Amino acid sequence: MRYWIVNRRSRSIVLIGMMGAGKSSVGRCLHRRTGLALHDTDEIVAANFRMSIPEIFAKHGQKKFRETETEALRRMRTEEPTIIITGGGIVLRRENIEILKSQAVVVWLDGDEETLFARASRKQNRPLLQTKNPRETFSQILTARRPLYANLADIWIDTSVLTDEEVAVAILAKLRRMNPKPESAVSAKGS
Ligand code: S3P
Repeated sequence: MRYWIVNRRSRSIVLIGMMGAGKSSVGRCLHRRTGLALHDTDEIVAANFRMSIPEIFAKHGQKKFRETETEALRRMRTEEPTIIITGGGIVLRRENIEILKSQAVVVWLDGDEETLFARASRKQNRPLLQTKNPRETFSQILTARRPLYANLADIWIDTSVLTDEEVAVAILAKLRRMNPKPESAVSAKGS
């Protein structure tokens, strides 16, 4: 076992970004590489309602989904650093932004629009894209959110041409560069 210097104040790593950015897969790679616990706000919300995200949107509406998403973040506060995977709309509420800013190094997984859309539309599990023109909807959402992601992010990664593992490696490399002093470290598995 060896140690990665993750960040100076032992903060969590939060992944933000648009649907299709690869937050869940990259989060799992980071989890494997660092051994840090993994939290996924979509999974927490789905477990709360005991139904899938599309079912929650259909039955309870987006507002209720957003409230539960914020509640999941509030309860997630922990002394131990973790990896937090968020849903693409996490940046829509000020309270979410405040919570994430105060606890985590925020990593924005970005990419070119075509690639993000292609990935996001592979599965039919995105209620916000169930429109007459999903491509146009995606474009509008992305345009509205990019400034919000940019405003919150400490680290930006273009995932367009990278594998999930490559993205995870790039994140860890950037974190180490941000924190040259070994003031805090977390264990990394598999090396
Ligand atoms: C949403 C993204 C989804 C999920 C919900 C809303 C959004 O998560 O939270 O469908 O508003 O962008 P992913 O970003 O993992 O697709």
